[in-house]
Amino acid sequence: GPQDSVRHQFSVRREMSSEDRIQQHRRYLMCRPDHFTLSYEINPWMHLAHPIDMSRAMRQWQALRDTYVRLGHEVELIDPIPGLNDMVYVANGGLVIGGVALGAKFSVSERRGEELPFREWFAAHGYDVVEPVAMQEGEGDLMLVGETILAGYGFRSQLDSHAEVAGVFGLEVVSLRLVNPFYYHLDTALCVLDPVQGPGGVDLANIAYLPSAFDERSQAELVERFPDAIRVPASVPETLEVNAVSDGRNVVLSPHSDSFVAQLRERGYHPVPVDVSELHLGGAGSNVALWNCEEQTMSTMTNP
Ligand code: ARG
Repeated sequence: GPQDSVRHQFSVRREMSSEDRIQQHRRYLMCRPDHFTLSYEINPWMHLAHPIDMSRAMRQWQALRDTYVRLGHEVELIDPIPGLNDMVYVANGGLVIGGVALGAKFSVSERRGEELPFREWFAAHGYDVVEPVAMQEGEGDLMLVGETILAGYGFRSQLDSHAEVAGVFGLEVVSLRLVNPFYYHLDTALCVLDPVQGPGGVDLANIAYLPSAFDERSQAELVERFPDAIRVPASVPETLEVNAVSDGRNVVLSPHSDSFVAQLRERGYHPVPVDVSELHLGGAGSNVALWNCEEQTMSTMTNP
């Protein structure tokens, strides 16, 4: 019956080997950390007493960009703007799906200056740009998985942005409430491992997440929708290991994410550690790029 086929799909998701994992070919948008510096604190990770080592940040950012390229992806760049310290965290610049780019509307005044430059970049690169009405911080809080957008709220993005997002893209939006200030953006607590429908209509869509970052209702929602998700245990002190980037096969993440790495390997993903410790000082990990910049295409490319 239908129950069996559902169960069958779950086990496929869980037991796929690394040869079966499907890599997506992607275009990422990144921003050189030329003006990345700490002059304010807008999340619990940022401390004026822990300034950024700018040359180290630049080397780490280069390594991250090189990693995406080495994995077969394309990286586009947006010009950094003096005074916009956090522009390196491009994931927050908007949500792009297919040819449509919904701009961000930041809840933090320190980042509002980024809104227009990102919308201008999207327009200059051929996207249909939508200027948002409600506050929402782009792909930091809005994550496409299959035909669904998972949407975080509680710290930055406002709940009323979710209906707007659903309307703009014509997709289902699932609201998830974040409750731990260290995990203030959805992507600090949730990583989309497999964003796609696999061949033969097999639903491979899956995620990794940190259950304790969500309220109980949201946790129940995630368990129901993603029974095969990787659940990353809470750690003290908090870590940003879940702020990782998966192309369906390769998962770029911080080193020392031991239990997460073990679980990824078990499921046939290929963990790719990149040290982004300077980016952690601003409150995020490897997920600094905006993706979905172009229609994603499947690739049979093997790992280099
Ligand atoms: N300092 C930035 C802020 O607080 C960090 C943004 C992190 N971005 C992300 N996608 N999680 O806005």
